[in-house]
Amino acid sequence: MESAIAQADEADEAAVTRLVDSFYDRIRAEPRLGPIFENAIQDWDQHLQVMRDFWSRALLGTERYHGCVMSPHFGLPIEAVDLDRFLELFRPTADSTLPADTARRAIQVAEAVTQNLRRAVK
Ligand code: HEM
Repeated sequence: MESAIAQADEADEAAVTRLVDSFYDRIRAEPRLGPIFENAIQDWDQHLQVMRDFWSRALLGTERYHGCVMSPHFGLPIEAVDLDRFLELFRPTADSTLPADTARRAIQVAEAVTQNLRRAVK
C-alpha cells in the first residue's frame, strides 16, 4: 500500500516536471514572451526548479515553494497581451501533460495569477 502511494507521488511529480519543462520550452520559443524571459533570467536551471516547486505546491499540496509569486514580475515589461499569450500557451500544455482534473486545476491557478498580474501591469 505504502509503495503504491509512493509510486503515485512519483507519477504526480513526474507530471509536474513534464508540465514545467514543456511549458518553458514553448515560452522560450515564443517571439513575444521568449525575449522577456531570456532578458530577465540568468539561471534557467534554477528558475525551472523554482517553477517545479511552485507547481508541486499548487497541484500536489507539497511544501516545496515558499516564495513570493508577484514581486519578481514587478518591473518586467509585461503587457496585458503577454498575459493572454501566456495562457494561450499554458492551457494546451497543461492538457497535454497532466491528468484532466489536474490540468483543470493548473489552468485555474494560472488564470488567477495572470488576473493578479493584469491588475499590477495595467
Ligand atoms: C507574461 C507573463 C509572465 C512573465 C513574462 C513572467 C516572467 C517571470 C520572470 C522573468 C521571473 C523571474 C525569474 C528569475 O528572476 O529568476 C518569474 C518568476 C516567477 N513566475 Fe512568472 N512570468 C509570467 C507569468 C507568470 C504566471 C502566470 C505565473 C503563475 C502561474 C508565474 C509564476 C512565477 C513564479 C512562481 C516565479 C518565481 C517567484 C520566486 O522567485 O519565488 N509567472 N516570472
